[in-house]
Amino acid sequence: MKKNILITGSTDGIGKLAAIKLAKEGHTIYLHGRNAEKLDKVIAEVKKLSNNENVKGFIADLSDLDAVKKMSEQVNSEVAKLDVLINNAGVFKSPNIQTKAGFDLRFAVNYFAPYLMTKRLLPLLKKGTAPRIINLSSAAQAPVSFEALAGKAQIPMQASYAQSKLAITMWSFYMAKREPEVSIIAVNPGSLLDTNMVREAYGKSWSTADKGGNILYDLAVSEEYEGVTGKYFDNDKGEKKGIFGDAHQLAYDETVIEKMIAETDLILNKW
Ligand SMILES: NC(=O)c1ccc[n+]([C@@H]2O[C@H](COP(=O)([O-])OP(=O)(O)OC[C@H]3O[C@@H](n4cnc5c(N)ncnc54)[C@H](OP(=O)(O)O)[C@@H]3O)[C@@H](O)[C@H]2O)c1
Repeated sequence: MKKNILITGSTDGIGKLAAIKLAKEGHTIYLHGRNAEKLDKVIAEVKKLSNNENVKGFIADLSDLDAVKKMSEQVNSEVAKLDVLINNAGVFKSPNIQTKAGFDLRFAVNYFAPYLMTKRLLPLLKKGTAPRIINLSSAAQAPVSFEALAGKAQIPMQASYAQSKLAITMWSFYMAKREPEVSIIAVNPGSLLDTNMVREAYGKSWSTADKGGNILYDLAVSEEYEGVTGKYFDNDKGEKKGIFGDAHQLAYDETVIEKMIAETDLILNKW
């Protein structure tokens, strides 16, 4: 069955690779980017490589939560139903630390943006067939400082990256319990995959970017994962490909999760 699939941060890296693979199978792909020129180029490239004209795009700088809201409204008005949402866009190293609203860039892009967008796109997903949400986590996960989350304390970018990734994992598990109609999985796509993010941060890689693109593809459409929800997929483990495994222990602590969601809602109530 052909699906409607939205992938954030699909102008590069593993999101783009997953988009190409999914488009080749004839699914309708909604790409997302922050730069109009790059997005148009990637739309044309994905169409050409896949021989599939059902490739469209949305623009939003996810560090700007007003733009996240606007893009969610556009998706809601232009797309009839969504079967898969891959919250893939992410940032690690960056010249600027804070967003214009005063949040750490990593918390904003890696956690607040998918949180807000998903909330707004849930009705569209519920119109989909066996809908799935794939949230990009990481092997790097660390306890969330609520001060840093709210933009009231500055922490090193490695710390806020790891905290944003535990935050998205905790929220994935929280949402999976409350939204039984939708399958929600948090995934570590593999560590040090050969993408811009990793090259800019470490100048070296351990694995190909394809390893990450392939697992996003699988989690998005493979029958094997239909109906699987509230789990953490670890692509650093397993043999041929990853396996479901354990996220950070706090991702299973209901009290801490409830507190983090309450803090998040307080911070984001303006949007
Ligand atoms: N690579 C790894 O080893 C690894 C390991 C664990 C988790 N991950 C996660 O996997 C996801 C994809 O990462 P990647 O390795 O493929 O990185 P990448 O090649 O740097 O791609 C990141 C994508 O996110 C987009 N993006 C970044 N900041 C944005 C913003 N403010 N607004 C809108 N879009 C933005 C980028 O847009 P541009 O094209 O405009 O740059 C790009 O399309 C991330 O969530 C990352 O944390 C990666």
